[in-house]
Amino acid sequence: MDEGGQHGGNVREMVQRWGLDESAILDFSANINPLGMPTSLKQEIVNRLDVAECYPDPGYQRLRARLAAYHHCPASWILAGNGATELIFDLASLLRHKTVLLLTPGFGEYRRALQLMHCRLEEYPLAEEDDFRPDQRLLAALRPGLDCVFLCSPNNPTGQLMEGALLLAIAQRCQELSIMLVVDEAFMDFIPDGISMIDHLQRFSQVFVLRSLTKFYAIPGLRLGYMVSSDTAAMIQLRNRRPPWTLNAFAALAGEILLDDRDYQQATWRWLKQEQTILTEGLRALPQLKVWQPAANYIFFRCLRPGLDLQAALLNPIIADVGTQAVANQTRPLIRSCANYPGLNGDFYRVAIKGHEDNQRLLRELGRIFSHG
Ligand SMILES: Cc1ncc(COP(=O)(O)O)c(C=O)c1O
Repeated sequence: MDEGGQHGGNVREMVQRWGLDESAILDFSANINPLGMPTSLKQEIVNRLDVAECYPDPGYQRLRARLAAYHHCPASWILAGNGATELIFDLASLLRHKTVLLLTPGFGEYRRALQLMHCRLEEYPLAEEDDFRPDQRLLAALRPGLDCVFLCSPNNPTGQLMEGALLLAIAQRCQELSIMLVVDEAFMDFIPDGISMIDHLQRFSQVFVLRSLTKFYAIPGLRLGYMVSSDTAAMIQLRNRRPPWTLNAFAALAGEILLDDRDYQQATWRWLKQEQTILTEGLRALPQLKVWQPAANYIFFRCLRPGLDLQAALLNPIIADVGTQAVANQTRPLIRSCANYPGLNGDFYRVAIKGHEDNQRLLRELGRIFSHG
């Protein structure tokens, strides 16, 4: 599979494929906060450019202390990474040749990292009839001999949040069977009252929670994620295996200040509360789409018109509307096709929730495509 098609946000690949100008793309494929990088961070980076002149502290003690204070846990429970992605690969390195259960559809990097470590992968398919939500039946799939299970809540790409009681029952069963449990909460910050598994780590030492700051704080290019676990022996092992300084000094600085930016957090929740409803309802008003209720800043849907490649239709002005100059000159919405997710096909899509005008433009474009018979 080519590198670009695996993720949203690969605008370059799309402009090459469609012969468009990069500035012509309105990117709905990467789930990044449209409020952009917080001003507090921009200012701090400009004021502190000189931090690049020194090696970062290889233990990232200040960063870890801040994250630990935020989550009311010891700093020894925290490992920061160059995005949550780096930590997924770190975890996979602990699982060489082991048997791991993956829920499908799910974030593609688990599979890639685990395959590189020659893990034996088992699949737990989430069904459309169940709205792609795991339920009590998942407990039965957690059996002796399994070494690890990866969960994601809210799940990417389906946007479904796992039920808290079920997650605790899974953690309990994993504890009894000595199964390592990875819970990816990369999008949890978007849910103001989101209940994190981090609050239960004291009880469940085999649980590893992944968090990302790249989406909520719009810093995917800066890269910052972290992992929390009370298994301090495993955390030391993971820390000892890594090359030093994989986080640059600006990313570390970002983690030290961003969690204090209450204004940005509140503004994000206000924007999302409004636009999540408006865009979901707007999509639901199109009878050609089946739309799942989102929990975070992206919406998952199925196109019910057989054979229609919606991503292509939106990108291609000639398909989108009979090639009038006015339409050809406008930006083109790029949505995420979910065709390459195991368990899904080319009928499924995911769109980021953006600012009001952009969301309205997407709805107009979709309406225009569906109005062409
Ligand atoms: C569910 C999930 N986990 C982890 C990541 C990785 O995030 P990061 O940018 O922090 O590496 C992503 C990125 O898309 C994701 O969707």
